[in-house]
Amino acid sequence: MKKILILDFGSQTTALIGRRVREFGAYTEIIPGDTPLTDAILADARGVILSGSPESVYADGAAVDKRVYECGLPLMGICYGLHRMIVDLGGLVEPLPRREYGGGEVMVENGKNTACFLNGFNPKIPLTDIINNAPRLSNLTFQSSSLVAWFSHGDTITRLAPGFQQIGVSAAGFPAVVAHEEKPWFGVQFHPETSHCQRGNEILAAFVFSVCNVSRDWTMEYYVEEVRANLSRRIGAHPVLLLISGGVDSSVAGALLLKTLPAKQVYFMYVDTGLMRKDETASVKKALERLGAEHLHIVYAEDEFLAALKGKEDPEAKRKTIGDLFITVQEREVAKLGLPDAYFLVQGTLYTDLIESGKGVGKKAHVIKSHHNVGSPLVDAKRKAGRVIEPLDRLYKDEVRKLGRLLGVEEEVVRRHPFPGPGLAIRILGEVTKEKCDILREADAIFIRELKRRGFYDEIWQAFAVLLPVRSVGVAGDIRKYGYVLALRAITSSDGMTADVFPFPPKDLLEISTLITNAESEIGRVVYDVSSKPPATIEWE
Ligand code: XMP
Repeated sequence: MKKILILDFGSQTTALIGRRVREFGAYTEIIPGDTPLTDAILADARGVILSGSPESVYADGAAVDKRVYECGLPLMGICYGLHRMIVDLGGLVEPLPRREYGGGEVMVENGKNTACFLNGFNPKIPLTDIINNAPRLSNLTFQSSSLVAWFSHGDTITRLAPGFQQIGVSAAGFPAVVAHEEKPWFGVQFHPETSHCQRGNEILAAFVFSVCNVSRDWTMEYYVEEVRANLSRRIGAHPVLLLISGGVDSSVAGALLLKTLPAKQVYFMYVDTGLMRKDETASVKKALERLGAEHLHIVYAEDEFLAALKGKEDPEAKRKTIGDLFITVQEREVAKLGLPDAYFLVQGTLYTDLIESGKGVGKKAHVIKSHHNVGSPLVDAKRKAGRVIEPLDRLYKDEVRKLGRLLGVEEEVVRRHPFPGPGLAIRILGEVTKEKCDILREADAIFIRELKRRGFYDEIWQAFAVLLPVRSVGVAGDIRKYGYVLALRAITSSDGMTADVFPFPPKDLLEISTLITNAESEIGRVVYDVSSKPPATIEWE
């Protein structure tokens, strides 16, 4: 399939560039920015986007394979990606006196050889026309235009590389849009992939469709066909094991296996750590049985996990304890299944998991938290043996949901908010006990039930309750009470990399607070978390 290649230099918004291009219906792959550009990698590429980065071009770092400038493909540099191109091709980039962050006006004028790219800046051309590559596009003239773009940079171009011209300038007078006079090479100083950038989608789409001439053949039906054929070919008659977490991803991976292979060949294992949401284990069981699962191995390990967590208060120590024990339980229980050595291990890894763990892309992205579910001796050994299959690893979360629906996974499962591997343990600040798990589980269930009942659930990317390690004074029926403080969190996001606070209608928030404190006598006070990501993360620990 024809694709747009994205070279990732570690920006938090690289995944977003990929998402945008996919949403247009074009296929794209993100690879680390310093990947050697072999013939195989370039084979189906029709254009290359060079992403942003937290680094500066003059800081030490991995260089891009210079073949990118020799392969004849259209290029588009975004922020650092633009600096990379300009410096590699003989220009100069220097630090700004002050970092520029946020919205800022850009003035764009016509330049030589830029007609296709300028479609994106032309307010007369709607996105749909660009995506559908309407033939009339090239007949429209473009004189000049201005838009409010989204900047996040500490460096600027101070001298263009030979052959480049400036076609857009920022309000501060710095080059904001540049293009090569003869080659299809473009660059923007701002981030068109962010939702705050005016005509950002049009700018990306103009590059993808008008410049690179990529077709819109990225559909879920196509993906399913391709993935099922690959799964059947690779797995053959060998057994496969899928570790189910209860979340959307592993459930959809399970559905994909059951739709592709005979049910007797597919083994599911699920570990109930006692740190799950209310009724989670029962609902996982029901959903898989409905999809036709025959071998479902549920491990009840609550006591083991709570014992291991006893006395642990530090977030990373808790994550590590859970991660290590998970591996022990997993090894022990998988051994009990008595599968032959040649079995395949299937994981519900998503594209964004690879990005967040720094495994596949974004080597330069800064690691914020350790994700316990990345890598274990079992997975590593299987990977070494070439027997790990990750059939969702090219998909984003919303694409997985789409796929789940296509495969007939229950709506209840498909629309479920993400849930972290360490579960409630990282939502109980401080030491984790059974009593606290039970209180939090009930409160969280009330919160989620109310979000669904009030029609907010699908507007929110992730919502949950957090039990704080403080108690506060209250009064109930004339009696002084010393209850827990519970924080509610509800955020909107497109992939969990950044998040905004859900603007809760106060009336609903107040009613939900009352419902929780009425039902849970241990909780004396409810607060709402109003922090976005960044600077906060989504989870509290
Ligand atoms: P943060 O808290 O890093 O969360 O902003 C981003 C997204 O990742 C989820 N998360 C995890 N998921 N294992 C997971 O599978 C983990 O250890 C983990 N930690 C955070 C979090 O719920 C949010 O969706």
